[in-house]
Amino acid sequence: MAASPPTPDRSHTPLADELRAAGCVFAEEEAALLADAARSPEELSELVRRRVDGVPLEHVLGWAEFCGRRIVVEPGVFVPRRRTEFLARCAAERLRPGNVVVDMCCGSGAVGAVLGHEVAGIDLYAVDVDPVAVGCARRNIERFGGRVFTGDLCAALPTSIAGRVDVLVANAPYVPSRAVAFMPPEARLHEPRVALDGGGDGLDVHRRLADAAPGWLAPGGRLLMEAGVSQADTAALILAAAGLDAMVRTSEELDATVVVGTCPS
Ligand SMILES: C[S@@+](CC[C@H](N)C(=O)[O-])C[C@H]1O[C@@H](n2cnc3c(N)ncnc32)[C@H](O)[C@@H]1O
Repeated sequence: MAASPPTPDRSHTPLADELRAAGCVFAEEEAALLADAARSPEELSELVRRRVDGVPLEHVLGWAEFCGRRIVVEPGVFVPRRRTEFLARCAAERLRPGNVVVDMCCGSGAVGAVLGHEVAGIDLYAVDVDPVAVGCARRNIERFGGRVFTGDLCAALPTSIAGRVDVLVANAPYVPSRAVAFMPPEARLHEPRVALDGGGDGLDVHRRLADAAPGWLAPGGRLLMEAGVSQADTAALILAAAGLDAMVRTSEELDATVVVGTCPS
């Protein structure tokens, strides 16, 4: 029997070597993605130059993979993290057509876009304080009939949905202020501080959202927020203090923690 041809070794192409030398851990994969994205050798050189300069891969490509979908991510917008797929999965549970859903602190709108894709016919809203994020979220969410608002938390929502929200989902900033300086440069230098800094203990926005949530949730509606594992107990207490039935959920696979507060029926 004829031997099958050897698999080409792509791990030491000049492109992968250049990316590896610049500190890219997944150099081969990145090399393949950049090569696919470029329409000419000149464009490839430009993409590689930006990546080697430390621009996040997702900003160079213009998209991030999230829950198996391509989400548009524009420069200056928070790159959706793999762990946040757990938040999206928890929010999708028991979601039905006609439910009112808010993707709060939406950034690129990754979570809302996944929910809009998973369950056709939800009534989808999204909010971010950063107009750059809002522009990006519109590209990801409007195709599912979602509406995206600029502003500060629930103050940006139409009052017509007060008391009717079935799912209020938020990946709000939760890095303690003093820890922002120690984040990797890709985050510190290329993502806005408002997307990262959650105040003294990282839970300032969580407190404000928990306080506001009972006025927006329908009976039985849920507030779901991502948090760090060390913040989970405090976050659950914050939800309970707001009158919600609090619960902590974790995913070992994704190293993710979500606190859920359910509005009493
Ligand atoms: C950690 S990022 C998450 C973005 C997106 N949900 C995701 O998971 O990719 C937090 C987002 O919250 C937004 N944000 C921060 N403070 C806010 C506020 N007071 N009102 C609305 N959005 C806010 C930031 O602009 C940023 O886009």
